[in-house]
Amino acid sequence: MNFQTLIGVVLVLSIHATCSYVKGRWFDRIFIVFFENQAYSQTIKDPTFKAVAEMGTLMNNFYGLTHPSQPNYLGTIAGNYWHRHIDLDVDLDYTTVVDLLEAKNITWKSYQEDYPGGVNNCFKGSQYPYMRKHNPFMSFKNIRETKRCDNIVNAKELEEDIKKKSLPQYMFYTPNMLNNAHDTGLKGASSFLGPFIQNLHSNEHFMNNTLVVLTFDEDDYYHITNRVYTVVIGPMVGKNQIDENQYNLYSILKTVEDNWNLGSLGRREEHVNAFSFKNKTRY
Ligand SMILES: *[C@@H]1O[C@H](CO)[C@@H](O)[C@H](O)[C@H]1NC(C)=O
Ligand SMILES: *[C@@H]1O[C@H](CO)[C@@H](O)[C@H](O)[C@H]1NC(C)=O
Ligand SMILES: *[C@@H]1O[C@H](CO)[C@@H](O)[C@H](O)[C@H]1NC(C)=O
Repeated sequence: MNFQTLIGVVLVLSIHATCSYVKGRWFDRIFIVFFENQAYSQTIKDPTFKAVAEMGTLMNNFYGLTHPSQPNYLGTIAGNYWHRHIDLDVDLDYTTVVDLLEAKNITWKSYQEDYPGGVNNCFKGSQYPYMRKHNPFMSFKNIRETKRCDNIVNAKELEEDIKKKSLPQYMFYTPNMLNNAHDTGLKGASSFLGPFIQNLHSNEHFMNNTLVVLTFDEDDYYHITNRVYTVVIGPMVGKNQIDENQYNLYSILKTVEDNWNLGSLGRREEHVNAFSFKNKTRY
C-alpha cells in the first residue's frame, strides 16, 4: 500500500467513525440517573444534592408522573405507562425510545448496578439489590425477548466504556437499592452520588457534549404534588442556575426526541415541555 492509499483508507475510516456518531442539536450523549422516593423539599436540603445542583441547572418545577415507582420509569422511556400502577413485573408490547434511537443508528445502554445478566444472558428477574422494576427496558417484549437485551448491562461496564471511549449516546443508569435512596434514604444516596458524580464530571471524555440528568422517580407520597429534584449538568447548560419551566419525566423523552430529530412516539411526551437550552442551538 503506498502512502496516498494509506491516507485514503485512514480518511474513509475516520469519516465512517464520525458518521456512526450522530450529532445532536444540544448534546451528543445523554446520561440519565434515577434516584428513588424523595420529595424535592427534602432532597434540596441534603448538602451533597445541593452542591451537585450547583454544578449545573436545577429544574425547580419538575414532577414525577404517578405512584408507585415502576410506571415512572416506564413513562420515561415510552411516553406512557398504560395504567400499570404496580411494582410487580409487567410485560408490555409497545415501542419505546429504543425504537426511535435505533432507527437513527443512535447507540444506547441501560447500566444497572448489580444486574446479574449480560451479553447473551438476559436476566429477567430481580436479585437484590438490583430490581427489575427500576430497569424499564426489561418490561418491553421487543427488548427483553430480542438481542436488544444485550444492551442491558451491569453498571460496572460504564467504567470500561469510558476507558475504551465506546460510550453509547443514550445512557440510562440505575443505582442499586442501597445507593438510590430507596433503602438507605438520602444519606445513603448522597454518599454514593458525591464520588460518583465527581468522578464523571472530572472526566473530560465523558463530559464531552454529554448532558447528565439526575432525577427521582417520585416523591415520598406525603407531598401531594409529586415534585422531585432534577438537575442537569453539562457544557450545554448553565452552572449554578435555576430553570423555572414546568417539566415532568416525559420531558426527558421529549428532549431526546427533539435533540436528535427522532420524530415522536406520539404519546404523552407530546404534551410537555422539552428542556430549554436557551444559549445553544447547534444544527
Ligand atoms: C444505519 O446504519 C446502517 C448500517 O450501517 C445503514 O445502512 C443505515 O443507512 C443507517 N441509517 C441511518 C438513518 O443513518
Ligand atoms: C469531543 O468530541 C469531539 C467530537 O464530537 C472531538 O472532536 C473532540 O476531540 C472531543 N474532545 C475531547 C476533550 O474528548
Ligand atoms: C446562558 O445565558 C445566561 C444569561 O445570558 C448566562 O448567565 C449563562 O451563563 C449562560 N449559560 C451558558 C451555558 O452559556
